[in-house]
Amino acid sequence: MTARTASSRTFDLTELGDADVYKLLSCAVQPRPIAWVSTVDGAGVRNLAPFSFFTVASRNPATLAVSIGERIGFPGQDKDTLVNIRETGEFVVNIPSVDNAAAVTASFATVEPHVDEFDLAGVTAIDSLQVAVPSVQESLISLECRLAQAVPLGTDTLVLGTVLAVTARHDAIDEHGYTDVSTGKWLARLAGPYYSNLTHSVHQGGGPDAGSFR
Ligand SMILES: Cc1cc2nc3c(=O)[nH]c(=O)nc-3n(C[C@H](O)[C@H](O)[C@H](O)COP(=O)(O)O)c2cc1C
Repeated sequence: MTARTASSRTFDLTELGDADVYKLLSCAVQPRPIAWVSTVDGAGVRNLAPFSFFTVASRNPATLAVSIGERIGFPGQDKDTLVNIRETGEFVVNIPSVDNAAAVTASFATVEPHVDEFDLAGVTAIDSLQVAVPSVQESLISLECRLAQAVPLGTDTLVLGTVLAVTARHDAIDEHGYTDVSTGKWLARLAGPYYSNLTHSVHQGGGPDAGSFR
């Protein structure tokens, strides 16, 4: 075994506060994709919020995972997104483009539940195919989900959603299943207030070449 050198630093999480642990995780796990989650409440009010603790959880059934923390400034209370997902059992994960960055930030605001966050963010709601929740027209891809499980994990809740339908813009995924990040359209979250537009892809092998869907 090789001895540790002074070129790295160790953090004992039991000695760190929640804010520092969050910072550490955000630095260690990046870039992260952004789930721009649309939901509606029982009265049909539209909500939109970004979540970067987000990934694919299963291929079959196609499942996404989004981790939702407590309402900012109100420990123990749920964010509107989670309240709505529990109430309706549906949500849409919209994948924002770089052009949506300002709108993503606008939808981060913690506002009263009755505020329409599509209007707040200045984006267009379009009908989804299989859920009653609208999708964001300006996003690159919209993945319509039905709630599969909401798993409590301490302060956060891991929402698992079964993907029912996907709508992708032609400049996000073309008809042959190709995607090209060098267009600079893909938006990723880095640590803190930083984002990346992922302009390079490096071919290293290790995955199937993108091919036709059929
Ligand atoms: C880029 C970005 C990523 C975020 N990721 C998360 C996340 O993964 N989990 C979380 O609970 N909040 C996250 N937030 C904060 C929520 O978006 C914020 O609390 C939002 O106001 C929740 O809105 P809601 O109460 O309408 O659900 C993120 C914010 C930004 C700007």
